[in-house]
Amino acid sequence: MPKYPEFSGRVIAVTGAAQGIGAATARAFAEQRAHVVLLDIDELGAQQVAAEIRASDGRALAIKIDVADEKSVDHAIAAVVSEFDKLDVLINCAGGYGRLATLEDTTVEEWDRTVALNLRSVFLCCRAAIPHLKKSKAGRIINVASISGRTVFAASSPAYGSSKAAVIQLTRFLAQQLGPAGITANAIAPITTLTRRVAALRTKEDVERIASQVPLRRLATPEDSAQAMLFLASDAASYLNGIVLDVNGGRVMM
Ligand SMILES: NC(=O)c1ccc[n+]([C@@H]2O[C@H](COP(=O)([O-])OP(=O)(O)OC[C@H]3O[C@@H](n4cnc5c(N)ncnc54)[C@H](O)[C@@H]3O)[C@@H](O)[C@H]2O)c1
Repeated sequence: MPKYPEFSGRVIAVTGAAQGIGAATARAFAEQRAHVVLLDIDELGAQQVAAEIRASDGRALAIKIDVADEKSVDHAIAAVVSEFDKLDVLINCAGGYGRLATLEDTTVEEWDRTVALNLRSVFLCCRAAIPHLKKSKAGRIINVASISGRTVFAASSPAYGSSKAAVIQLTRFLAQQLGPAGITANAIAPITTLTRRVAALRTKEDVERIASQVPLRRLATPEDSAQAMLFLASDAASYLNGIVLDVNGGRVMM
């Protein structure tokens, strides 16, 4: 029995769904009987996750997108709507950064690439999706920010943290401007999350050190974020608008 039966038949588009938090989110919505569209620049990876979901009796389709490119975004969102005739939920999950760097060490190219991937992407995807979300009875936007956009850690990237802070502010604008149309916009801000990519990058000592600073004494899992997004997209959260859910085990409380 699905926890959120209202998702049956709703169309959920997730960017960055070929791996990590995005893939876990696509799987979680598919388990709730939603129609899931996996949008990713890694077309093959997205197709593989979609095939796994279908093999478990879920409904999933992969479409290629470059979230930083206006034409690609407009084309991909149009393809979602032409396939399903509607769009109910947009989850902006694609994001990340190349390397840890101080501001002095950051090149202009790195800065622009990081801001485009994390911030312009959310602007472009929301702008393309809004006309369709307005026609939904349960329109939702969920933006994946980061603890790096909530506070400053020693080891991060100024371009990344600044972009994620801006994503939070963009979420508030969306909440204010789309609320009258019945659309909610919220964000999540995860701490370091044990995706396969992060697990490969971090040593056992790194993981233990970060976990020791978290009151719950562990890093986040992709499923922790997926569950927070299921809740934000659900009917139970219909009066939550413009909020940030900190998926961080109590590491930073605000
Ligand atoms: N993993 C963490 O520790 C962590 C912590 C806080 C926030 N986040 C945020 O969560 C989100 C997902 O992180 P993750 O670690 O699961 O990511 P990941 O690196 O595992 O996956 C990112 C996905 O985005 C896709 N992608 C990259 N560039 C793209 C583009 N231009 N267009 C479309 N797709 C593109 C990649 O192909 C990949 O499938 C990101 O926004 C990230 O900033 C991650």
